Amino acid sequence: MEVLHRDGLARIARVKTRHGIINTPAVMPVINPNIITVPLKEIEKIGFSAIITNSYIIRRTEKLRTVAQEKGIHSLLNFSGPIMTDSGTFQEYVYGGVEFGNEEMVRFQESIGSDIVTIRDIFTNPDDSYETVSSAVNETYERAKNSTVHEETLLAGTIQGGIYPDLRKRSSSMMSRVSDYLPIGGVVPLLENYRYSDLVNVILASKINASMSLPIHLFGGGHPMFIPMAVLLGVDLFDSSSYVKYARGGRLLYPDGTRDLDRIFEFPPWSPLCDKFTADELRGMGEAEKTYWLSLHNLVAISNEISETRERIREGNLWQYVEWRSQAHPYLRDAFRTLSRQAWKIEKFQEISKKGAMFFPDQVSMLGPYVRRLKKFTSSYVARKYPVVCVSDSQLKKKSAIEIRGAYESKRTTMLVPWNGIHVPIELEETFPVQQSISSRLFGMHRCRSLQFGSIREDEKERNFDLEKVRAVADYQYGPGIGHILFPDGSEIRKSKKTGRIRTVSLGGNITATLRAMDGFLTLTIDGARLIDPYSRNLSVTVTDDSAEFNAKGFNVFCKFVVKASPRIISGNDTLVHDRNGKLVAVGKAALPGFEMRQFDNGIAVNVHSGLEGHHGKDTDG
Ligand code: GUN
Repeated sequence: MEVLHRDGLARIARVKTRHGIINTPAVMPVINPNIITVPLKEIEKIGFSAIITNSYIIRRTEKLRTVAQEKGIHSLLNFSGPIMTDSGTFQEYVYGGVEFGNEEMVRFQESIGSDIVTIRDIFTNPDDSYETVSSAVNETYERAKNSTVHEETLLAGTIQGGIYPDLRKRSSSMMSRVSDYLPIGGVVPLLENYRYSDLVNVILASKINASMSLPIHLFGGGHPMFIPMAVLLGVDLFDSSSYVKYARGGRLLYPDGTRDLDRIFEFPPWSPLCDKFTADELRGMGEAEKTYWLSLHNLVAISNEISETRERIREGNLWQYVEWRSQAHPYLRDAFRTLSRQAWKIEKFQEISKKGAMFFPDQVSMLGPYVRRLKKFTSSYVARKYPVVCVSDSQLKKKSAIEIRGAYESKRTTMLVPWNGIHVPIELEETFPVQQSISSRLFGMHRCRSLQFGSIREDEKERNFDLEKVRAVADYQYGPGIGHILFPDGSEIRKSKKTGRIRTVSLGGNITATLRAMDGFLTLTIDGARLIDPYSRNLSVTVTDDSAEFNAKGFNVFCKFVVKASPRIISGNDTLVHDRNGKLVAVGKAALPGFEMRQFDNGIAVNVHSGLEGHHGKDTDG
């Protein structure tokens, strides 16, 4: 798969199949080959480019089997896009005893031309014992290992493991080795019973132990209410039979839940039912016609949610969107809290900053990955040997910037300022997300020992605020202690005449870094990179010699040429590019977290902005 945009674990990607590309996040409507409720042409028109059907139903229905085997599944369903087939596992769980084994079902799916073939995994219930689930995980792996498909067909090896995180972890890493595509299975009972907190744990354990280069699918998870949260946790694809199941029960899907047709007065403007029928007219229709129209409404609701989720990923604010949407149901809110408490697992996937401002409506919003990173840094900053002083809320309001700066420069302290109920280093006042945030008044006043103010003379100054500021940002961005190496005494700071903000830092006439107005982080030049090179282990990507030659000229680094990458590289942060001999050849921005770089064999790993030979940011395949 090719990843185009990321926001933490969420991504917009392209999954290649024999019958075309699936643009993810995507939902595949479930098509029952016996009863086509909505013609596939209409499903396509709403925006669904791939579908899923059940090969077990086809296999055991002679009429369908004959056509599928003679003409192929695409002909049978009259659909030319990607088709995924399921294997009968779920039917076995619901109805018991399925007559065909794994090998037979995989071969059958291949023979009818399925694009994504699913193994006959072992479904387990959330209530099943650890031992039962553990042996199901092992047997599922054995089945996947023994399944072979045509090179261009994708083999879907389901991750099982019930609600046991260690079994999900085991299943996920084992299945990653033998599959091209990873559905998360065994979750339908959790979805049906609104057990969203359990789902968060199951998805997270499955996702973070899987190969990042494989698409993740949530079996049965296509309700619009849960889609954004699942995508935030790294799910790329869903299937949905709910659109038709709910329609048969006279129910309509909405972004925040479900409504009974019996109680509806009007249809929302986005619904295909709006302006077409009154609710009474729909209620008066025959069953088949009513199911068709309600299915159409439900498909549009799902498609809208996918589209909104994709937009949020592009904006980099899916977390915020999920936080807001979690108000729809108390269990969803619980799940959001469960997710927030595990922000430490997500933090390493989160970019260094995002484009817009962060919203902080309440304390729960302070549990997200960006604030966690900031808090971690603040704790290490406070642990330094200097005395800690806090600027109080009222001092921050009443004192001028010059007065505060004077107090800062008069003494070597660790000075903290209040921000959303916590304290953060004053030097990070312009760094994301401290400045780029909008907070509600729910955050109360901070209690702390107030700072003493007094006037000082220039010759009494112990330090320079601007220099300490860029040093602190460098420590935050590149690691503790880097600030002093990158910006030694004698560094020269240049500010914007218009805004008064720091723009560049130079040493001996050479610019070493620029401070970005957008997020208050630094961008290293090649001269800056040279200074920190001996201490850059956590920021280093090693590339093949062929690649190094191009990167030195300013061309981007591609994942397939990465030999080694520090697992601590944060996506969007400056990264030093080295050749195999450890020689620095370029500096740029990581396009993905360091530990993912070697998992992909396509796409850019580092967007180079300066090469040793001076050119800037170009694309090449080497
Ligand atoms: N459909 C819903 N859940 C599952 C599952 O766990 N495995 C398979 N193969 N299909 C499913």
